[in-house]
Amino acid sequence: MSARSRIYLSPPHLGSEELELVQEAFASNWIAPLGPHVDAFEREFAARTRAGAALALSSGTAALHLALNRLGVVEADEVFCSTFTFVASANPIVYQGAAPVFIDSDLRTWNMDPALLAAELDRAARARRLPRAVVVVHLYGQSADLDPILAACERYGVPVIEDAAEALGATYKGASPGTRGAFGAFSFNGNKIITTSGGGMLVSNDPAEIEASRFLATQARDPAPHYQHSTLGFNYRMSNVLAAIGRGQLRTLDERVKARRRNFHLYEEALGPVPGLSFMPEAAYGRASRWLSVMLVDPDEFGATAEDVRRHLEAADVEARPVWKPMHLQPLFSDARTVGGAVSEHFFRRGLCLPSGSALSDDDRARVIDTLLATPRRPRRQRVAVPPGFVAPDRASLRAAAGGERPLDFREDTR
Ligand SMILES: Cc1ncc(COP(=O)(O)O)c(C=O)c1O
Repeated sequence: MSARSRIYLSPPHLGSEELELVQEAFASNWIAPLGPHVDAFEREFAARTRAGAALALSSGTAALHLALNRLGVVEADEVFCSTFTFVASANPIVYQGAAPVFIDSDLRTWNMDPALLAAELDRAARARRLPRAVVVVHLYGQSADLDPILAACERYGVPVIEDAAEALGATYKGASPGTRGAFGAFSFNGNKIITTSGGGMLVSNDPAEIEASRFLATQARDPAPHYQHSTLGFNYRMSNVLAAIGRGQLRTLDERVKARRRNFHLYEEALGPVPGLSFMPEAAYGRASRWLSVMLVDPDEFGATAEDVRRHLEAADVEARPVWKPMHLQPLFSDARTVGGAVSEHFFRRGLCLPSGSALSDDDRARVIDTLLATPRRPRRQRVAVPPGFVAPDRASLRAAAGGERPLDFREDTR
């Protein structure tokens, strides 16, 4: 019997050019957090995303931190942030000593609900306590609905930081997410659509802001030969070696998006018709990169929970993962204010990320599908009748539609 290899969620996928570029970096002895590959990667990245300017950094988290710093976020400020995201979207708010306020998703895009944000900004304006900034996340390779989000923020002069860590290669009305707000942050972490093993990029349409961020990212060294510092800085630059990898990876981006969209399409084709299984919708305003293929499992319809499915896949050496646990359910943020929450809780209860690597073979994908369908299932329960025109944004409706699932305890930490 031949040993089957493990299928990973989203492993790095290296092309043919990266090694050549890294060898060039070695040969030229530019093994430093600056150098020609860093400069070229920034130029090429800005050209690809059509951003005004770009700054290569050690991580996406560093990019978000610098953006918040440049926008003057300080203690006693509030910063609004998507609740349905990875913790790195919110942590830098706390690095600046400010308080995150979490905004729920909408059912259509899974991203920040523009109506909920607008209503909360109106309320904050009336209370004379506007947030210093809004961090809007583009989740799992799909852009948030930027136009109404930017319009609501512009009304009150609140700057927007786009967390596009998961959305390189996606589009919003033809443009790259990350390029409309005051700043955009991208990640090249090992699991992302392109990787430098670890790294990030800060973009802005204001080159002066990128230059100011570059200064902060290099320990805020004053222009004097004797190591003088007047401002608190950080050591956040990307190394020339990693930038060489990034340049090679960037050249493959279109192919990577195509491969990930194909994964999604084939999963949806095979599993979408199965009662109780559904997939993250693609919003009409853009094209998702499908960085991860994400599905929802209705336990009553399917006869098993998302966690049952995940464990069954894991037993067969197939790595699937729960969706992000919303920030407002995190013990770390138990004191934070939240606007809404039921929609992201619904996704959290039912969501599952399937293996989504751009090098996934047809055999691998077939193994994922066959194993998933072989998950032991209970007989289907009678569905609760849903009235026509039901939209389900509120907690009670969601619970009724889910057959009366137990309410989520905000302190519950099961995953
Ligand atoms: C939504 C989101 N924001 C921020 C980050 C942080 O990026 P990095 O890991 O490069 O710091 C990630 C990924 O890791 C992410 O998924």
